[in-house]
Amino acid sequence: MTATLDIHLTPAEINQGITIPQAKSSSPVSQSQAQTIYDFLKARPELKKTLEVGFAIGRSAAHIIAATQSHHQVIDPFQEDYGSWGIKNLKQLGLEGHYTLHEKLSHEALPQLLAEGLKFDFIFIDGDHRFDGAFIDFYYCDLLLKPGGFVLLHDTWMRPIRLIMSFINTNRANYKLELDADNMALYQKTQAEDERDGMHFKEFYTSKSYARHHLTMHAYEHPHGWINRLKEGLKKLMKK
Ligand SMILES: C[S@@+](CC[C@H](N)C(=O)[O-])C[C@H]1O[C@@H](n2cnc3c(N)ncnc32)[C@H](O)[C@@H]1O
Repeated sequence: MTATLDIHLTPAEINQGITIPQAKSSSPVSQSQAQTIYDFLKARPELKKTLEVGFAIGRSAAHIIAATQSHHQVIDPFQEDYGSWGIKNLKQLGLEGHYTLHEKLSHEALPQLLAEGLKFDFIFIDGDHRFDGAFIDFYYCDLLLKPGGFVLLHDTWMRPIRLIMSFINTNRANYKLELDADNMALYQKTQAEDERDGMHFKEFYTSKSYARHHLTMHAYEHPHGWINRLKEGLKKLMKK
């Protein structure tokens, strides 16, 4: 049984109550993403056991706790790099004691949670965004997720995350993509077992996502380059 907490915090109150240090302003999930997470969990009160990789300043964690009214588990060894603003923000919001922070690398903490026999209804992966780190996170989170549970990936604009999505879409028949929007992808682990045999492998590299990644990176690295100029031109044309 998961104890239900008595927390009355709206996303607006959370956003007002947290401090985001200037140097880390690009780290947290956006307000619209946090609202999506909050609304999703609020609409599914049966999702109580939650886990998150990547705490940073605690915006997503606060929304998850407020929506589920339940204790939350978070993994992140780098609070010092964030001036401990995750811990401070959750304290400011009165959420101290409503979460457990595992100050360890996810590849150390996740196997431990698994060895303890824990299972989760909802897992948010927003930690190491390099392919190998994020893939290991997905691997363990899959083992920690209950059938019917949900896993949410952040930063789907990034090639490593898109590649992991491509792997799930082609190789994991027991996962269903529920949402791919606003830089996030939500999957439900269906009730079905993972039925792959030991030789199973389906190619998940696609030329389309390779090309898309290089265009995205070019636009990101050259804000005034041809891709962004083309986008602006098209926007103006559409307005006419
Ligand atoms: C993009 S931020 C997370 C933002 C957070 N979800 C929020 O809304 O405030 C990524 C976080 O992942 C953490 N991180 C990076 N590598 C990690 C790893 N191997 N294990 C656990 N956490 C990691 C970083 O310390 C950072 O806090």
